[in-house]
Amino acid sequence: MVSEIERRQDTRLDQYVDFYAQRTQGLTVSAVRALFSVANRPEVVSLAGGMPNIKDLPLGKLGDEISQLICERGMQVFQYGSGQGEQFMRDHITEVMAEEGIHSHSDDVVVSCGSQQGLDLVTRVFCDPGDVVLCEAPSYVGALGTFLAYQVEVVHVEMDDYGISPTALRQAITSLRAAGKRVKFLYTIPNFQNPTGITQPVSRRQELLALAKEEDLLIVEDNPYGLLALDTEPQPALRALDADRVIYLGSFSKIFAPGLRVGWVLAPPAVREKLVMTQEAATLCPPVSAQFIVSHYMENFDWRSQIKVFHEMYRARRDAMLAGLEEHMPPGCSWTNPGGGFFVWLTLPPGLDSQAMLARAVSARVAYVPGTAFYADGFGSRNMRLSFCFPPPDRIIEGTRRLGEVLKAELAMRATFGIEDLPPRPGLVPGPAPDIL
Ligand SMILES: Cc1ncc(COP(=O)(O)O)c(C=O)c1O
Repeated sequence: MVSEIERRQDTRLDQYVDFYAQRTQGLTVSAVRALFSVANRPEVVSLAGGMPNIKDLPLGKLGDEISQLICERGMQVFQYGSGQGEQFMRDHITEVMAEEGIHSHSDDVVVSCGSQQGLDLVTRVFCDPGDVVLCEAPSYVGALGTFLAYQVEVVHVEMDDYGISPTALRQAITSLRAAGKRVKFLYTIPNFQNPTGITQPVSRRQELLALAKEEDLLIVEDNPYGLLALDTEPQPALRALDADRVIYLGSFSKIFAPGLRVGWVLAPPAVREKLVMTQEAATLCPPVSAQFIVSHYMENFDWRSQIKVFHEMYRARRDAMLAGLEEHMPPGCSWTNPGGGFFVWLTLPPGLDSQAMLARAVSARVAYVPGTAFYADGFGSRNMRLSFCFPPPDRIIEGTRRLGEVLKAELAMRATFGIEDLPPRPGLVPGPAPDIL
């Protein structure tokens, strides 16, 4: 005879459903992921992917030297290491941060598997379910996924052309506290923000830090793109302006190689202790071999000049994107003008919905990420993120041409049928695949 349990298991699509933790609620694969698998076909110009373009790395020389490194020091390269990360790696990390004005001690650095894991560790250390994290509106999809996984309530704070608005931030803090909510930190990406490409000028940074002090607010500064400033010198990091209130996340993904997964957290000593213990519980130690490779690269290659090579490559792509948008976008569109990083944020004319349009765009062989991916609350349907990091300039221009055609057709259809504006829909969070980060 079939028991009740067996019957239930037979009729369920997912037989593990009764066992999942509450925090996995909402961790479902979005339909958009399926579209992205099509978007990765060569005939599609993908303006969606945020993958660093590492074609200019000296791979041959690196390969030879890494194989020599393994022959000579393999016993250490392939061994377990310190939960905080290797001393030599942490020393090099302080050199990278010095480029953005941060004076730090290697004792206060915790190496992580990319800054993504740094974000996970920080959230684990600070957030209980129901706590609030303040984020820019819009914000990085991978961070929203992390916050959601820890059942954190994300409250988006309005941005202007200079980043997060201090007035809106103060209002949000006041009303959340009045409602009895615990605001744990502000998560901000001050340089070439993902997804908008907006950079906070120094005056805005100072305003935010003054406000944070007044309101006793912690800031988590996520800065993977800071050294990819294409038109000016890098701005001083928030952490360079305030060492006590800012927890800093950095990464080698955009200045060297994302596949090595080496990032870091710089935190005051008390926090750093907790991060190390959390890191040990999560992974025992960050990968030692990757730390050897990054350190070898920094010691034996001119990593600063390599960043300049990246600048040239990304600048040509950024300029192609801006020229293509200027030429091909229909009236009523506007977009940001990033001074670095990987992304442009496009605002569509009223009534157009980037998520609804994505399938049509992919059929027209161009892909983007709908703006809804970058909001935890369903906004963003009139926006899309376009990344210029990967395709060559002529393909980027062709991508903007195809996108322009899709938008023009969409506008013509709306003019013909007078379709009503759509209400906000739930966003795409969570479930970012690494190729759209
Ligand atoms: C703002 C931001 N933070 C963090 C990350 C994760 O980077 P990492 O490769 O260091 O984990 C990304 C990746 O795209 C990002 O855009």
